[in-house]
This record gives sequence, structure tokens and C-alpha cells, in this order.
Amino acid sequence: MSPSASADRVLSARAHSAHLVLLGLPGAGKSTVGPLVATALGRPFVDLDAAIEQRAGRSIAEIFALGGETEFRAHEHVLTTLLLGPGAPLSVFSPGGGWVEDPLNRAASDNPLFSVYLRVSPSVAIARMEGETRLRPLLDGPDPLRRVEELLRRREMLYLQSDHTVSTDLMSPEEVAASIVALASG
Ligand code: S3P
Repeated sequence: MSPSASADRVLSARAHSAHLVLLGLPGAGKSTVGPLVATALGRPFVDLDAAIEQRAGRSIAEIFALGGETEFRAHEHVLTTLLLGPGAPLSVFSPGGGWVEDPLNRAASDNPLFSVYLRVSPSVAIARMEGETRLRPLLDGPDPLRRVEELLRRREMLYLQSDHTVSTDLMSPEEVAASIVALASG
């Protein structure tokens, strides 16, 4: 999948007029795969957590430490409204794993969403995060694997409402990106 192929890529009618949203647990690969998909489609890549940090002038961990999850979720919704709302360019949009839990986030978009669930097993997610679970407040504790399993139990029904699911455990980021591009070209 070469970036140069992007300009002429023909998206399905549905994907063409929609934000392409990548959903999944922490460690699913959203932030790694997203830029590859964005390059292939010739769209901007939006990493919602990075946008929140930039606007707040604080890291995600600091936001949680100072204002708790409530403040983080408020930032998440406000930035979603700005980045998917009226006037926002169609993008490849990668929110944090908990974005699906607030139905107002999806509703904030001014355009349809074309959503892809990057499915990952909890043990693979932990391996991909390689000790960086500390940076994720919801996983920062003695047993991050158990926390990921709990999040999956709570969220999987929501993730599975996506337009498509890609099971990523055995795939490289490039393979996942190519699958997503193929789905969007549908
Ligand atoms: C969260 C996941 C994180 C980040 C925040 C909350 C979650 O993003 O948004 O720590 O609720 O699962 P990643 O999914 O990119 O790790």
C-alpha cells in the first residue's frame, strides 16, 4: 500500500462521505495504524488523545490525576465536537478506547461515521503496550491484564456495533491498514 496510490483511490460511496473512525481497546493499534490509513486515503489523521493533551496543556495522566476521569471525558467530548462537528474536514479519527461509552460522542459528528473495530486479545494488547500501561491511567495498577479484560467485557458489545471488525492479533500494522483501506474502498 503506497501513499502515492492515495490520490486515485476510489472509496465506497459510504466511506467517501464519512469520517473513518478506528475503535478498540488500548493496545489495539489505533494510533499506529491510523496514520498509515490516513496517508493511503489522503486524509488528515486525528489522534483524539493527542488533541486533548495539546488543548489542555497537560498529559492524559495529568488530566486524570488532577480532574479525574470525569474531567478527561469532558475534554474528550468537547474535542470530539470540534474535530467531527460542522466544518471539520473528513478524517481518519482515532479516539481513546473509552470513547464508545458516551453515545453523545458519536452523535456529535456532522457527517456519517464509517467505523472499524480493531479487535485485539487482552494479552496481545498488553504485549503491544510494552510496559507503557503506566501512561494509561485506567490500566495503571498491579494487574493491567485484568483491567484490560474488564474493559473488554464492558465495551465489546459497543465495539461490535462498528461497521466492520478487523481481528488484529496476528497482523502487522501495515496489514491492518491495508485491510481497512480495502473495507473503505469496498
Ligand atoms: C482510555 C484509553 C486511552 C485514553 C485514556 C482512556 C480508555 O487511549 O483515551 O487513558 O478509556 O480506554 P488508548 O485507547 O489510545 O490507550
